[in-house]
Amino acid sequence: MSGHNEHKEFIYLTPMPVRIWHWINALGIVTLCITGIQIRFPEYVNIFGTYKSAIRLHNTAGVTVSISYAVWLCYYLIIKGNLFKLYVPNVYDIKMGIFKQVLYYFYYFFKGGSSPHHATPDDKFNPMQKVAYMGLMLALLPLVILSGILIMNVAPLREWIIVLGGIKLLVSAHFLIACCFFAFLFVHIYLATMGHTPLAHFKPMWDGWEEIEHH
Ligand code: HEM
Repeated sequence: MSGHNEHKEFIYLTPMPVRIWHWINALGIVTLCITGIQIRFPEYVNIFGTYKSAIRLHNTAGVTVSISYAVWLCYYLIIKGNLFKLYVPNVYDIKMGIFKQVLYYFYYFFKGGSSPHHATPDDKFNPMQKVAYMGLMLALLPLVILSGILIMNVAPLREWIIVLGGIKLLVSAHFLIACCFFAFLFVHIYLATMGHTPLAHFKPMWDGWEEIEHH
């Protein structure tokens, strides 16, 4: 135990727009997953009454997630201008950082060690977070949104759909990416509990401020 417990120090890690985006997005994605399960497996699952109401809720959540994604993107690209700095791993991250971070999550964490990465507002994510969040926010989320927009507008956008390989391929791609989001949710929430206390990483996602861990 460190002797610095009496005066706690905090850093402002997560600005308000990111927090608002994150929780709207989380609620939206969870809603999309649950309604999506009914839409994909209607013979086994009926949570929202009729098939039609599941689709209506799925579309509403989809539009909400799409708009909040656009706001998130504009915020990081235009207002903060640090999207790539925060989200793209550097050479060291790829060569060493990821390895160290994986070793920490699988081994040193359980030995009571502390993370090799210390978050600051300019370097918020550890190498594993960068890779996961970059893949998610700059590839999977835009792809699932685009495929969703096409599936929602089959008639007016049919030319585009044909160019992209047809409706079957599109629906399969949409479902496959959705499965990635479903799997991500569990890993994301588990890893989020691996701060120096189980709720340490949840706090900055709620009020912006993270407590600095003393050694
Ligand atoms: C109920 C569901 C969710 C919970 C409880 C949750 C929890 C958290 C927590 C505690 C953090 C801050 C610590 C960390 O970075 O690990 C965080 C950050 C983040 N989460 Fe989630 N999350 C959820 C859903 C999602 C979903 C569905 C996505 C994306 C599709 C997502 C993407 C992110 C991103 C990109 C960050 C970093 C945000 C930033 O500071 O720029 N989360 N989440």
